[in-house]
Amino acid sequence: MYNIIRFFLFLFNPEFAHHLAMKSLKIANFFGLLNLISKRNRCKPRTIMGLQFESPVGLAAGLDKNAEYIDCLSKLGFGFIEIGTVTPRPQKGNPKPRSFRLTREKGIINRFGFNNDGIDKVIQNIKKSKFRGILGINIGKNFDTPINKAIDDYLICFRKSYLFASYITLNISSPNTKGLRKLQGSDNLEKLLKKIKTEQKILNKQYKKYVPFLIKISPDNTNLQLTSICKLLIKYKIDGVIATNTTLSRKRVSASNKRNESGGLSGLPLKSSSLKTQKFLKLKLDGKIPIIGVGGVMSGEDGKEKIDNGADLIQIYSGLIFKGYGLIHELCRAIK
Ligand SMILES: Cc1cc2nc3c(=O)[nH]c(=O)nc-3n(C[C@H](O)[C@H](O)[C@H](O)COP(=O)(O)O)c2cc1C
Repeated sequence: MYNIIRFFLFLFNPEFAHHLAMKSLKIANFFGLLNLISKRNRCKPRTIMGLQFESPVGLAAGLDKNAEYIDCLSKLGFGFIEIGTVTPRPQKGNPKPRSFRLTREKGIINRFGFNNDGIDKVIQNIKKSKFRGILGINIGKNFDTPINKAIDDYLICFRKSYLFASYITLNISSPNTKGLRKLQGSDNLEKLLKKIKTEQKILNKQYKKYVPFLIKISPDNTNLQLTSICKLLIKYKIDGVIATNTTLSRKRVSASNKRNESGGLSGLPLKSSSLKTQKFLKLKLDGKIPIIGVGGVMSGEDGKEKIDNGADLIQIYSGLIFKGYGLIHELCRAIK
């Protein structure tokens, strides 16, 4: 079935196809059609970061940046949904075209640059939704906020998200916001983690609700960089880490005519570097901090490989585009 839908969607440019697919999903949900698939995709629940996940298969950030489709997406069988990246102020993102399909390689290059409606609007959307499952809110900085003021942007989004998120992700690894990845460097990262951890303690006391936060890292870090990231994660007792965001490497798509498009590459060509990063984290964190594995999960086997190599949960994005929601079911079957 999805092969036919995919054939039709792939006739259009990726951004238009995305909007078309999401609007169609909303219509299908309105007519109750998504309820027909909702109950089939359950696998073993697990408790991670103090949260109960109905299944370990989640939706990665970027697909529903403004939390407009949570209700429909939840019916596809995800165990959790991460929305965003959202910034303090609304912003348009980079000029179009900004998303490219590498069909043969099963990859996507995107340089959206955090196009989103801003945190206030996103929170309004969340309030309107009926979804009561695990919701992650992925936050970032506005493109025109200098890197030395970035923490302020994270703090704004963190405070505004706190009561509406099951967990909050600090996205410090998108390659499409100038300088963002510098926040992974030890000095910047230490300042960021210290501030957010303090804020988490204050908000926890104020609202009597503990909301875990994670950082999302890049697959392009060296082992030395990863080692210092791990030390800080342990030092500040961070709740979790998401590995990984998209890559700047084009090593695995050197034959594609899209290889020179700037932006982050996801999907199958990202699989090995993402898994390598995850394995290194597992080794250094020694089970002390939960890992969400994401990057290149295109089949049940890929998902199982991530879980077998230390991921507590997994997320998908590109796999959903190339294989459809059947992949969620396939992953649940493979992971159990
Ligand atoms: C079109 C597109 C937009 C994305 N936007 C975001 C984003 O806003 N924030 C974020 O943290 N990750 C974003 N990502 C990265 C994904 O969440 C994920 O980490 C990455 O694509 C690797 O997973 P995959 O290989 O399953 O796609 C985006 C990915 C794609 C393909």
